[in-house]
Amino acid sequence: MTPKFIPLKDHDTPIKVLFTGYLCTVGIGYLFALIQILFTHGMADGKFGLSIDDIVYSYYGNRSGTVLENQLNGAMKANAPDKERFAMIEWVRNGADEDEYKETGIEKIVETRCVMCHNETASGIPNFKDFKTLKTYTKEDGGATFASLTRVSHIHLFGISFIFMFVGLIFSFAETPTTQYKCIAIGMPYAFLIADILSWWLTKIDPMFAWLVMFAGMGMAVSFVFMWATSILEMWFYRPVFINGLGSKYLQWRDSQEVSIPDRIWVVIKTLAGQIKPLVALTREMWLIHITPIINKVLKK
Ligand code: HEC
Repeated sequence: MTPKFIPLKDHDTPIKVLFTGYLCTVGIGYLFALIQILFTHGMADGKFGLSIDDIVYSYYGNRSGTVLENQLNGAMKANAPDKERFAMIEWVRNGADEDEYKETGIEKIVETRCVMCHNETASGIPNFKDFKTLKTYTKEDGGATFASLTRVSHIHLFGISFIFMFVGLIFSFAETPTTQYKCIAIGMPYAFLIADILSWWLTKIDPMFAWLVMFAGMGMAVSFVFMWATSILEMWFYRPVFINGLGSKYLQWRDSQEVSIPDRIWVVIKTLAGQIKPLVALTREMWLIHITPIINKVLKK
């Protein structure tokens, strides 16, 4: 069967250059995003590398300490020598008093070690020239605030859905994966993106959900890498990979008569989707029988 679209390998070279330029730029962007995650969330527990603890501390908070103390033992650890860090932590533990702030030299430490970044011109990070601002960070560490979660949630939903729009669009011209695989790979990042954002809020409420943050992030990365690599290979390396190389084995396997894994997943998805209609009908019926009378009663009162 001839496909209803132009396969990636048959696109004009200018289009291939455009697609490749976009994919490479977004790929580098993804790498920087991972580095950023390593240096902020990854350092939340004071140790390099991303762990479940890091995620719990970032969203639920480390409620045994204050924000300032946790940051001084975590992501901000490298910004002041131990002696000064301990002095600041002690000051926080003693109640973070304003007079003591000036008298014991904590103000000096903050001015020399922190204010070069934490000043009024910096966007997105608190200004520590202002004592009142600093003071708010000497309270219990409850993790991400609802305000910051709302901000990051909408930025991520808008921004990342755009990235996957174009990566998915380019990948949709791929001809080597089956239609099923393509649907799964294109749909997966959106499902995981929503799961990811949802999991931040759930983790904010209960640390149990931290694993979901990791799982959803990985799901997004896997589909990204799959779409990225398939698109690049088909555009520029079709002959060496899919005709003479390992890819030819994959194509043989794809075209064999045996029921493949994507076919099986497809059947499951279709079966599940088939259940939605009766389920909706049942819910409606239950609602009409049980809930509507209650609402009517309440309204009459
Ligand atoms: C090199 C620049 C730099 C220096 C120096 C620095 N910070 Fe930070 N700080 C940052 C950035 C960037 C963030 C935001 C990181 C993030 O998004 O997680 C931050 C975040 C913080 C936060 C958390 C803010 C929040 O909204 O949760 C605290 C608390 C903090 N820093 C304290 C300090 C202290 C105390 C010092 C001095 C010992 C210090 N920082 C020195 C760059 C710096």
